[in-house]
Amino acid sequence: MKKILVTGGLGFIGSHTVVELQNSGYDVVIIDNLSNSKIEVLDQITSITNKKPEFYQIDLRDRNAIHSFFDTTSVDGIIHFAASKAVGESVENPLLYYENNVSSLIYILQEMLKRSVANFIFSSSCTVYGQADELPITEDAPIKPAESPYGNTKQIGEEILRDITKSSNLRTISLRYFNPIGAHESFKIGELPIGIPQNLIPYITQTAAGIRKQLSVFGNDYPTSDGTAVRDYIHVVDLAKAHIAAMQRLLSNKNKESFEVYNIGTGKGNSVLEIIHAFEKVTQQNLNYIITERRAGDIASAYADTSKANKELGWKAEKTLEEALDSAWQWQKRQ
Ligand code: UFG
Repeated sequence: MKKILVTGGLGFIGSHTVVELQNSGYDVVIIDNLSNSKIEVLDQITSITNKKPEFYQIDLRDRNAIHSFFDTTSVDGIIHFAASKAVGESVENPLLYYENNVSSLIYILQEMLKRSVANFIFSSSCTVYGQADELPITEDAPIKPAESPYGNTKQIGEEILRDITKSSNLRTISLRYFNPIGAHESFKIGELPIGIPQNLIPYITQTAAGIRKQLSVFGNDYPTSDGTAVRDYIHVVDLAKAHIAAMQRLLSNKNKESFEVYNIGTGKGNSVLEIIHAFEKVTQQNLNYIITERRAGDIASAYADTSKANKELGWKAEKTLEEALDSAWQWQKRQ
């Protein structure tokens, strides 16, 4: 049985990926520092899969701890989610982001080289494209100057991987996520934002649940069909499955290059107002919202051309927007 290390495995995307890995027959070991996740998620994963993943509470900025981990555990591949992801916080505290997202990546890669672990999957983001000149966005679209330190850490991460694969036998796949939403069908795992949600869907579900008074729609003067910004919202379970496909590609030596990049989205764009109306329809809830100013740093439109992932990874998003929104709401109601 192949053993996969999942860093950040108790987080939103990490936990769903651990479930899919276990369901696909992999052994999983999780490293998480619990900075933005809860230890209870480990039991929730176990109750879904009937198999408790190995777990180590390690902060990946702790080089010695990582070294000791690899002294005692050997793995066939690594899926690296552990990172900070709040755009606004990264503007306020850039060094925290460079340390969390870049230093820890370097420490893990150093151990991989020492121990000849060859297979690595990196959590990247569509943020690397900025406002792309053409839609849908292909992997060949140019990388634009990052809008935030967070976005820059994803660009730097990819550059590090591109360089390191040239000088070693490391094989890496960078998955550029569009907007992950929703929750597992068991409703035992889902998104757990700390404090006021920054992202649209948790803000919507918390407003519907009465935790927030009103949703602000950030701008209705974008050059889109209804003036509100357009994104590609992908069900987190579909996104999780893309990691299994990518890991299988590496483990079976099917990768064509030692550093590959894939867009992971649905290929469809929806505006904020379309999301609100779809949510209202699916959940039979009326949502209290107002139109406000644009949010600094937001782009007008981003949605993926997913044909490379469809063809090379043999993967495609299968769940509908309605399923994703319904699962987010079912999850919210259980909190
Ligand atoms: N939005 C609102 N009101 C809210 C929250 C969001 O109108 O309360 C709008 C945003 O302006 C945006 C859309 O909903 O147009 C989606 O916003 P999210 O914050 O959910 O997602 P983003 O597309 O802004 O962010 C995502 C990832 C980030 C990544 C970024 C890159 O969550 O990690 O894409 O653009 F950096």
